Amino acid sequence: MSVEWTKSSWRSRPRVQMPEYPDQEALGAVEARLASYPPLVFAGETRKLKAALAEVAEGRAFLLQGGDCAESFAEFGADNIRDTFKVMLQMAVVLTFGAKCPVVKIGRMAGQFAKPRSSPTEVVDGVELPSYRGDIINDFSFTAEGRIPDPNRMLQAYLQAAATLNLLRAFSQGGYADITRIHSWTLDFTRGAAGYEKYHQLANRISESLEFMAAAGVSPESSDTLHRVDFYTSHEALLLEYEEALARVDSTTGVPVAGSGHMIWIGDRTRQPDGAHVEFCRGVQNPIGLKCGPSITESELLQLIDILNPKNEAGRLTLIARFGAGKVGEHLPRLIRAVEREGRRVVWSCDPMHGNTIKSGSGYKTRPFDRVLREVREFFAIHAAEGTIPGGVHFEMTGKDVTECTGGLRAVTDEDLSDRYHTACDPRLNAAQSLELAFLVAEELDQRLQAQRAAG
Ligand code: PEP
Ligand code: CO
Repeated sequence: MSVEWTKSSWRSRPRVQMPEYPDQEALGAVEARLASYPPLVFAGETRKLKAALAEVAEGRAFLLQGGDCAESFAEFGADNIRDTFKVMLQMAVVLTFGAKCPVVKIGRMAGQFAKPRSSPTEVVDGVELPSYRGDIINDFSFTAEGRIPDPNRMLQAYLQAAATLNLLRAFSQGGYADITRIHSWTLDFTRGAAGYEKYHQLANRISESLEFMAAAGVSPESSDTLHRVDFYTSHEALLLEYEEALARVDSTTGVPVAGSGHMIWIGDRTRQPDGAHVEFCRGVQNPIGLKCGPSITESELLQLIDILNPKNEAGRLTLIARFGAGKVGEHLPRLIRAVEREGRRVVWSCDPMHGNTIKSGSGYKTRPFDRVLREVREFFAIHAAEGTIPGGVHFEMTGKDVTECTGGLRAVTDEDLSDRYHTACDPRLNAAQSLELAFLVAEELDQRLQAQRAAG
């Protein structure tokens, strides 16, 4: 492992899942342009998020991370951003109520464009073409030309990320997220719909408590924390040319920072300890996520922790476990024990999506919602048994009423999948399923709290 890190030192490491750009000159021009643009986030914000995640690591806060599998150019618009943000706020309210602690909110938004793929090519009706790798790289349309990696897409992604972040900042700081507006976050299609009663009841209880507090002199006017929320952005740091071009040196500390988003993560397919992705991420000060699938060994995990968090700083590293329902018991305890034995400070988060993808009878890629819930339950049960902290959840969702994952209270069936299957990549939870997931997590957190109280 070289000691010298630079924002381009990843280039001398083996790289996987990255495009080969046929036009190197065009690539260079895009990189130079992006490097001259302002960063999307500021280092002070990433430090604030790291401090919030340190609270999660200690069990004093809970992490909620969610959003699209892949953001798309075609679906870009204010309504989508607002609806995803609304559902995140609703989930956060449900969780705050269950956990009785702050919820750290991070969107898979404003940069979640590049996708790792299981296969480099796709075959449709006997025609084989390179796989779609996300809108920042190539086109979703199944044509030879569309699938050629085009560096100019990075500029489009940057602009979309900037505009998304701008709206998120306005929503979170400008009064939209004021807790007294809780009823206005409700999405139109959920009013009176089955599956939302619990949420409406909770919102009524919160409104009542707020009226009481206002009468006692505490209101959004007197207390800023009721009026605004901190909302952070994150994405997989897969396309390293984009990441390098947006990396900056923080003028306050002199330490490099990824300017592309508050938190970046390393995918399950790109976490080779000597690989390019780990090399880039080790040198930036942002909070880092590391996806941990069934193939990760204890020694590999400890090696990655050494590289990514050598100072054992709480909040720097979030381990995002994604094993699949029924497999958590085989993998999570061995990893938890290794981390505990070495005294490493990490946030443990549960991604109940990526280990539960199946092909439905009707041919769609889907995720049965009961498996998603089961993985979350297993995650909590194992942390309870090990005496460690279940820090958060990481999931793919949208504020739209899509039919991509089967099941849930408003049961989506295999036959329904074709109705509103809009994802450009993996199947996402719809708004109702997201809220149901939040209630399950809230119950788990409440049980944990009760057990702690009982233990004194
Ligand atoms: C993802 O989060 O969209 C993803 C591809 O995850 P993983 O790396 O865990 O497969
Ligand atoms: Co995904």
